[in-house]
Amino acid sequence: GTRHPSIPLPKDLMGAWGNSEGIDLAEREVLREVARAIAAAPLPLAGGVGGGPVSTPLLAATPTPNPSRKREGDEVAQAIARAHAAFPAWSATPVETRAAILERYADLLEANRTELMAYAVREAFKTIPDALGEIREAADFCRYYAVQARGILAPRILPGPTGERNELRMMGRGVWATIAPWNFPLAIFTGQNAAALVAGNTGVAKPAPQTPGIAARAVELAHEAGVPRDALVLVTGGAEAGAALTGDPRIAGVAFTGSTATAKAIARSLLEDDNRPIVPLIAETGGINAMIVDSTALPEQVVADVIASAFRSAGQRCSALRLLIVQEEVAETILTMLRGAMELLVVGDPGDPRTDVGPVIDDAAYDRLMAYRESVKGRWIKTVLVPATGRFVPPTAIRLDDLDDLQQEWFGPLLHVATWRAGELTATIERVNAKRFGLTMGLHSRIARSAEIAETTAKVGNLYINRSMIGAVVGSQPFGGEGLSGTGPKAGGPNYLPRFCVERAVSVDT
Ligand code: SER
Repeated sequence: GTRHPSIPLPKDLMGAWGNSEGIDLAEREVLREVARAIAAAPLPLAGGVGGGPVSTPLLAATPTPNPSRKREGDEVAQAIARAHAAFPAWSATPVETRAAILERYADLLEANRTELMAYAVREAFKTIPDALGEIREAADFCRYYAVQARGILAPRILPGPTGERNELRMMGRGVWATIAPWNFPLAIFTGQNAAALVAGNTGVAKPAPQTPGIAARAVELAHEAGVPRDALVLVTGGAEAGAALTGDPRIAGVAFTGSTATAKAIARSLLEDDNRPIVPLIAETGGINAMIVDSTALPEQVVADVIASAFRSAGQRCSALRLLIVQEEVAETILTMLRGAMELLVVGDPGDPRTDVGPVIDDAAYDRLMAYRESVKGRWIKTVLVPATGRFVPPTAIRLDDLDDLQQEWFGPLLHVATWRAGELTATIERVNAKRFGLTMGLHSRIARSAEIAETTAKVGNLYINRSMIGAVVGSQPFGGEGLSGTGPKAGGPNYLPRFCVERAVSVDT
């Protein structure tokens, strides 16, 4: 969030990435530029006025949605055939060439950021700062994986008995299916594809059905950067297209970000056909992410981090805070301050630079969240006013008698609050672990021993101490969970690319 502004980091330390989060003053001009582009687009904000498909010149590149199941299957099969045919040449392309193409891709994403941000606002209803975050994270992924690829994918000569030459090669596996979510329609979409491609694979990319336009533009830019047209092929559609994709025996790997239920369905489908090779699945799903606050924490900082973690992006981040657990003694102080801070949240048109919280993604999400929120009305601690029309879920804090009362992820701006007793930190973390998700966790404490306890006890992919729980920075905070939250490989980390490869050892008696 804004506590971690984008400061130029020494290049030798960070490489060229590391700018995913935060907006500095120089970029105020970008915000104005994007706001002008969005205002100029002659269409209503679909999310802002409560629904309807987006139709705009901006989306001219969007392939026509195809309602027929059979035709959708055919489109997928043709895409896979193209990516399959493109694999031998692309996998034989030197790592250096592939890495240089990714770097060119990053430059093109940045050069086209106004248009891409307008898509993110129009199609995914991202606020302007969040839309800028999309561009930066997408470019970061490309540059980071390019640097990683040069280091870890280059062939290595290994020691061996005299007279033998042993070489270890990291090779592409084949055609990857990359299935991206609507909540990071550019960043995650691009990250998955960039990793698959630089590792020597070709890809069939399926964006979420809610965000095909930004994905289509991203794929065009990848081609412009030098990715062969058939090495990255876009398919659109929903669950049917996804099933046709992962069910095809020519798919050699699947990178998926979305719900736990879909990840499990994909895992099952990969095992259905006994004749099919064992296909790796990289899945990143949701979480019941908790933040634990003790009586030594700085209340102002806690509240700022809670607001950012729970409500920014309308709570539609997999990393978002769902369950705040405050030590009894300070609960009333924190909640009083939280109520005040929530009062200041601006909910509205995501195309307005002043907006903090935009609408949720679609009618189904809106109905689900609103019905749940209504069902716990007697427990509201605080809710805020929102525009009368539109899919605006009012940011709401909900009191729980017991932290076990929350057993489900609510993907929106709904924050649950429970308390814990001094002396029970380990037990409290274990109760959060027992929910079996493991994506993010936060701790606010100025006791060193408590931080140690969290570090050894919390079963999460990303533990955040004395800061917000969102906005993992590529290269510095590799992102991904465990348990019901995913299969583990962390995007934007040093161990990600090898998961897209096969390793081949070649030994020659010379
Ligand atoms: N990478 C995103 C974040 O850290 C995922 O939700 O917030």
